[in-house]
Amino acid sequence: MHIIRSRSLVRAVRASAIAGALLLPVAGRAQDTLRVTSPDRRTTVTFEAREGQVGYSVRRDGEWLITPSQLGFEFRNAPALRDSLRVVGSSRSSRDSTWTQPWGEVARVRDHHNELRVSVAETRSLGRRFDVVFRVFNDGVGFRYELPQQPNLGAFEISNELTEFALADNATAWWIASDRPRLDRSEQLYSTGPVSTLARVQTPLTMKTSTGTYMVIHEANVVNYARMNLAGRGMESRTLTADLAPMVDGVKVRASTPFTTPWRTIQIADRINDLAPSVLGLNLNPPNVLASTDWIKPMKYVGIWWGMHLGTMTWSSGPKHGATTANTKRYIDFAAKNGLGGVLVEGWNIGWDGDWIQNRNAFSFTQPYPDYDLPALAAYAKQKGVKLIAHNETSGGLANYERQMDSAYALYHSLGIDAIKTGYVTDTMGGGHSHWSQVAVNHYRKVIETAAKYGIMVDAHEPIHDTGERRTYPNMMSREGARGQEYNAWSGEGGNPPEHESNLFFTRLLAGPMDFTPGIFDILERSSGHAHTSEEPRVRTTLAKQLALYVVLYSPVQMAADLPENYEKQPAAFKFIRDVAVDWDTTRVIDGRIGEYVVVARRERGGPQWFLGAITDEEARTFEVPLDFLTPGLSYVAEIYADGAGANWLTNPMPVAISSRAVTSATRLRVALAPGGGQAIRIRPAR
Ligand code: NOJ
Ligand code: CA
Repeated sequence: MHIIRSRSLVRAVRASAIAGALLLPVAGRAQDTLRVTSPDRRTTVTFEAREGQVGYSVRRDGEWLITPSQLGFEFRNAPALRDSLRVVGSSRSSRDSTWTQPWGEVARVRDHHNELRVSVAETRSLGRRFDVVFRVFNDGVGFRYELPQQPNLGAFEISNELTEFALADNATAWWIASDRPRLDRSEQLYSTGPVSTLARVQTPLTMKTSTGTYMVIHEANVVNYARMNLAGRGMESRTLTADLAPMVDGVKVRASTPFTTPWRTIQIADRINDLAPSVLGLNLNPPNVLASTDWIKPMKYVGIWWGMHLGTMTWSSGPKHGATTANTKRYIDFAAKNGLGGVLVEGWNIGWDGDWIQNRNAFSFTQPYPDYDLPALAAYAKQKGVKLIAHNETSGGLANYERQMDSAYALYHSLGIDAIKTGYVTDTMGGGHSHWSQVAVNHYRKVIETAAKYGIMVDAHEPIHDTGERRTYPNMMSREGARGQEYNAWSGEGGNPPEHESNLFFTRLLAGPMDFTPGIFDILERSSGHAHTSEEPRVRTTLAKQLALYVVLYSPVQMAADLPENYEKQPAAFKFIRDVAVDWDTTRVIDGRIGEYVVVARRERGGPQWFLGAITDEEARTFEVPLDFLTPGLSYVAEIYADGAGANWLTNPMPVAISSRAVTSATRLRVALAPGGGQAIRIRPAR
């Protein structure tokens, strides 16, 4: 009965793809094939019920992107919802509205889509029903399942979601694996290969077809569900299937009707410049539910952090304890002096002694170590106009954290601490669940909601991936969820390769902001006690590239990750970190190639300044960048932080050439990047 996958249909699909024609007519009643088109009429989703199975396909300008792909579920202890299905109703609606983000990569977001809702029911046996809702935007497609309350579908346990993404083209994909048996499994380097070779991979999965169309499969608004990864079929198949993360007993989702799944999203772009900023997922999340967002403020921050990663300080108590009162005051003073909003302190709370990764039940989130005077430091920070950021490493002890959440957040609120950084360094969450299971999803959500109640912003490390929650809860600021700077301090491979950030920009960052923690000035990590050799970890970058990352890798909380003393040694370069904005009105990708280079310009929120960031992999590159995004007729000054003479990430990372020149919207700027280098530019109105 697998008509959706039948040979004749596949042949028909291929024939029509070649002819660029519409879907060939198929047998069956008219209402069994329904179409919905994007507002610009370029993207068409076709829903079909054929011989009892339902599926969808996607075309763009007549070209197949997704060939007929199955929909449905398998349950534990109940028959699959997959066969003897027919369409029993449908409805359509459209929307065109624009909304404003309290903060973001872009201030205004247009939600312009056509919606098709298809109601499906089983003709035999249990007569169960569900709806599939499609929203087709100019920049992609979202669809989800809605399971209404009904006699034969009450409480359920999903063992598999059957959603397929049958790629028409054997597109090139940029991927990280979803089945790595190790800690924090999004912290990986990217690989590239054709879709037909993929085994089990994470989303956002960015792909480029042989005709140059970009597609990104991801999901939006993951609530009370499991994270979706994607599984390939092997055997040269181009079909990827939803691969939900399991709980400890193997069940993927335990819930009851009425129930709505997350959106499955397929972002579509003709040009690489149109991939970011990605707003498809934001449009598929409910609007902000917080009464006020005035207290939510993007910021730059420093932290008692890099020292621990270099090994010169410890999270645990003892002679090298980083989170001491005196040390924290020094960081607060540094932040205040340089206009940085926050000071993150890690290792301030009881629980780090011994092997902290095993300490899940030992962590207190209210009790400081004796050498850390929390109330006095909170008062000191307040007096200096700086915010303390409380670190909450859980080591995956979900119950231990949830038990303390209210009292901890209440304490922080009473002390004027309005931001936390969470952490989940563990193989398994809670009682052995996947990091991305429904249990974990619900935990992460609880953190966001509880934090919102106490006026607290969240920066989550080892997080569940971003599916646009920040629209509904704008206190959900940033996440890690990829290999960040920390790997440059201790990873076996010697650090992240120079291409890494150009991969992140077009993959992980399409989901949402990343707390990458840029800005290491001591590139050879001499602060660790000795200069690292080329085999040892170091930052594989030039200094100018570290500056460019503030513009390239978007985060509303952006760390100046190095030690204050390293910034004090290089005040001229540090000026860029002081000056760069963290909240944007407009974002323009000027040029890029995945894993090779990125050139992006962003205008600050509520001000006239633009910032430009350009980064490259091992290859030196030069760009002519037209500054036509500037306001015509105005005079600007470009403050340029370029790779200096002879700069090279491997042999000579430090030279930065800092210069200023007058520019206007008619200027074409020559932007030259050294191997592994970058360039950061502040463009401000001339005085
Ligand atoms: C991993 C986080 O990514 C890092 O930033 C933090 O310092 C350590 N865990 C300790 O919590
Ligand atoms: Ca991490």
